[in-house]
Amino acid sequence: MQINRVIFVVSALIAVSLLTGFAFYYKNGASIRPDTSSQTRQQELIEAIKAKPFKSIAYVNRLAGYWPPQVILNSLGVNSKCYDIFILTFWMYGMMGDAVSVYDKPLNFIGPDVIGNTNAEIQQNLQKLYHDNGSLLFISAFGAAQNPTGFDPTLVAESLAKWVNENPYIDGIDIDYEDNDAIVDGTGTKWLITFQKVLRQKLDNKHLLITHAPQAPYFSRAYYDNGAYYTVEKEVGNTIDWYNIQFYNQGSNTYDSYESLFVESGKPFVNTSYSEIIKIDGIPAEKLILGKPAVTADATNTGYVEPAKLAQICNEGKEKSGITIPGFFIWQYSSDTSCRFYDAFTQNYKYK
Ligand SMILES: *[C@@H]1O[C@H](CO)[C@@H](O)[C@H](O)[C@H]1NC(C)=O
Ligand SMILES: *[C@@H]1O[C@H](CO)[C@@H](O)[C@H](O)[C@H]1NC(C)=O
Repeated sequence: MQINRVIFVVSALIAVSLLTGFAFYYKNGASIRPDTSSQTRQQELIEAIKAKPFKSIAYVNRLAGYWPPQVILNSLGVNSKCYDIFILTFWMYGMMGDAVSVYDKPLNFIGPDVIGNTNAEIQQNLQKLYHDNGSLLFISAFGAAQNPTGFDPTLVAESLAKWVNENPYIDGIDIDYEDNDAIVDGTGTKWLITFQKVLRQKLDNKHLLITHAPQAPYFSRAYYDNGAYYTVEKEVGNTIDWYNIQFYNQGSNTYDSYESLFVESGKPFVNTSYSEIIKIDGIPAEKLILGKPAVTADATNTGYVEPAKLAQICNEGKEKSGITIPGFFIWQYSSDTSCRFYDAFTQNYKYK
């Protein structure tokens, strides 16, 4: 059992033309009032996207290239035709990875005279490009690259909050905690609860969204000693906006049929299908975003489903189980810059 737990929870999130217009829409929805104050504008866009009954989210890990600057901006999704939220990966305690390192020191990557001349100016204009395109910018912390449980959760949360306060041109923070051993023995659950409380408290911008990106098994009360995300939701769920759930890379738990995704997840990670998480953990469907790889190559093992088929599965979930999913995320954006996955999924899923 112990061995299974470790083997099967394979980490899942591993590894332009510049827009100058001031149109202020959110994608595929009603337009909202423009505002000259960028803070008010941010708050309005955050509220508008948060209120969308169906959100589309893309993680940005791999970039298509680092030159010329336009390639970087395109890779970050600022001119995407489809996604509502872009999540750059990964902030780590003491390190910056991949796309987050571009946001952290944009002058080193994008250079001067493109969208600004200082790091702060470029960050601010980068966020404006997303906002002009009707989308939000998030960063994600940890991922499979860092298991932070060995560090004091208060120090790690303070460090992340300090960095966000000093680099404030983002709209949300995603916590992708994947320390499987610590979740198994229960220490990870306690760590996450303290971390989340301190993070919320130390952020200057009270409007920032905070999401978590657990692997689907982490919702199994039966499997983990301290109840894992069941307990996290119970203790600090009111400070977490929603969950970006990794329903992939879980070995024999494939989450690739109506049965395994919506009715009964099966062994070893029992009780982690949609209806089981909703019923047994008491977490509302509105908080449970469906995460999938964009293409087979973005999965380490199981869980990929063709987007049109995934839509049919979700239609069954709605018709037979009465569950409407509140949106989806893909890992990762570089595989869907043309909106292939997005189009096939949203054109076939009847969420309305
Ligand atoms: C985002 O940018 C794309 C590409 O330029 C454009 O087609 C789309 O209309 C823009 N979306 C919004 C909401 O402005
Ligand atoms: C799954 O949850 C149900 C309802 O709480 C419980 O009765 C059942 O024992 C759980 N499954 C396992 C294998 O623990």
